[in-house]
Amino acid sequence: MRRKIIAGNWKMHLLTDSAIDLAKSLAESIKDVDDVDIAIFPPAPYLILMKEVLKDSNIKYGAQNMHFAEKGAYTGELSPGMLKDIGCKLILVGHSERRKIFKESNELINSKLIAAINNHLTPYLCIGETLEERESGKLFEVIEEQLTIGLKSISEDDFNKIVIAYEPVWAIGTGKTATPEIAQEMHLFIRNWIKKNYSENTSEKMRILYGGSMKPENVKSLVSQPDIDGGLVGGASLKSESFSQIIRFSR
Ligand code: 13P
Repeated sequence: MRRKIIAGNWKMHLLTDSAIDLAKSLAESIKDVDDVDIAIFPPAPYLILMKEVLKDSNIKYGAQNMHFAEKGAYTGELSPGMLKDIGCKLILVGHSERRKIFKESNELINSKLIAAINNHLTPYLCIGETLEERESGKLFEVIEEQLTIGLKSISEDDFNKIVIAYEPVWAIGTGKTATPEIAQEMHLFIRNWIKKNYSENTSEKMRILYGGSMKPENVKSLVSQPDIDGGLVGGASLKSESFSQIIRFSR
């Protein structure tokens, strides 16, 4: 039985006070939950505050993006070592907003994944197809390419340190959740890809999260699918009440 993960991606929202309030209130409201892995991805300026705010909690935190290099002349970027230094345990890699707006390629995402693993940060590899790709029937091809190039030269041992998040782009921030059946179909495809390219044992262990308009009302039907192991939540993670409900309803 795979342990569920519920993770919140705060994207570019909140300011100092609201970020601290949200993290504190969340930590308080789910402090009794010991059977779900809980994570948040706050904006970079607030990560250092999380070290203190979340120190006695069951919530892990990480950044939404990083560079793959350890240091150097990369104005505006953050290194894996810096993130580790401020207590991050996790890192989002390849979110569709990074792919689309900031033109991140599968090759770049592969470099970031390798850097994360080398620095003992758990990468959440985000993959997903656009509406156009789905409607043109290329959806499985796109996902396969994201996996094949994104995971290039990553050993089975290292692959086991990764979490995968399937986020259909057309369901992100649109209120249009994939139906549990549509999501399950892709999760199964991803698991089978893992079985073929790594092993059955690894495919059975891998946690694959769903992301895209997840809310308290739909979490149960999604995570009750056999291959959906939790969620990566955007909008509904910005309120302690809705995010803690999602965590509770995922059990
Ligand atoms: P929403 O839950 O707002 O659709 O965002 C999903 C997402 O992009 C999480 O990374």
